[in-house]
Amino acid sequence: MITHSWEETEKFGFDFAEKFEYPGIIILDGQLGAGKTVFVRGFSRGLGITQEITSPTFLIVNSYPFRKKDDHLFFHHFDLYRITGFDELYYIGIEEYLEQKNAITIFEWGVPYINDFKQYKFRSAYLVSLEILDEETRNISVKSLYDPV
Ligand SMILES: Nc1ncnc2c1ncn2[C@@H]1O[C@H](COP(=O)(O)OP(=O)(O)OP(=O)(O)O)[C@@H](O)[C@H]1O
Ligand SMILES: [Mg+2]
Repeated sequence: MITHSWEETEKFGFDFAEKFEYPGIIILDGQLGAGKTVFVRGFSRGLGITQEITSPTFLIVNSYPFRKKDDHLFFHHFDLYRITGFDELYYIGIEEYLEQKNAITIFEWGVPYINDFKQYKFRSAYLVSLEILDEETRNISVKSLYDPV
């Protein structure tokens, strides 16, 4: 899928949230400035979250509560740019996040950990890759991960 503006990438994220199930995980791939956070903003809007989404680069994770019908859920937005290995993730308590049944979690810079996350159970799990074609153009591809439970 090709997008020609950040608005189109945001819309893509918005639409992606519609049929997304929990517990769920999205790994985002793409270089600096590819549009990962733009996607996350759209996705969070699609979940019904109205809070401003800021990049958690220095905090590692931002968490947002939201509701879906009568369910109380969490959306976790990780940025693993500064993380150097799974040991470090484990130390900050990644297991607690990945074991939550009522959560949807997105990882910017999460590709190195795809295998480490495999042992947890998700109903939706995708790798979303954003490739810069030129200043305003991105190629977005989606690949399903693991075996959904
Ligand atoms: N088609 C497009 N889709 C997404 N963003 C676009 C597009 N065209 C231009 N942009 C611009 O590219 C930038 C993407 O920034 P964003 O913070 O989302 O990238 P990122 O992948 O999260 O980077 P980082 O690795 O630094 O976190 C924004 O400034 C946005 O306006
Ligand atoms: Mg980002």
